[in-house]
Amino acid sequence: MERIKVRYCSRTKAGNTRRIAESIAEGAGVTAISIDDEPKLIGKTDILFLGGAPYANIMAPELRKYAESIEPETVGRIVLFTTSNWSRRTVHALRKIFNEKNIPVADKFFYAHMLNIDGKLEAAVRFGRENCN
Ligand SMILES: Cc1cc2nc3c(=O)[nH]c(=O)nc-3n(C[C@H](O)[C@H](O)[C@H](O)COP(=O)(O)O)c2cc1C
Repeated sequence: MERIKVRYCSRTKAGNTRRIAESIAEGAGVTAISIDDEPKLIGKTDILFLGGAPYANIMAPELRKYAESIEPETVGRIVLFTTSNWSRRTVHALRKIFNEKNIPVADKFFYAHMLNIDGKLEAAVRFGRENCN
């Protein structure tokens, strides 16, 4: 069993959410994996860091599908992160999906503005380290 996993959906060429995911993963001591490469959460996980971004006000449909396919008994807790131009709605929408499934979601989430990814990488490493226990 992989105790901690970092999964993300990142769509622009800049790879903003991917870069934040990779830093969170560095802090947590694991490897970040795109949901494009692993479209379903496999096995059991204590802590799942999950992130995405809004595109024209909604998260990528693949990310929604991924979240909806998670089986509650396979995850202990989810920690969310997002990048965007202004909106935190991806976090709120994901939280709603997991609340309905009774999967615990940490109150704290990580946000990085799309124009300040570089400035947030260190904080993302710290966030991964501090939220992986
Ligand atoms: C087509 C498109 C639509 C977007 N719509 C929104 C939006 O509605 N709200 C917002 O805050 N940011 C919006 N953004 C900004 C992205 O959420 C932001 O660039 C994010 O960091 C992209 O993450 P990624 O590089 O991992 O794909 C949009 C970006 C694109 C390309």
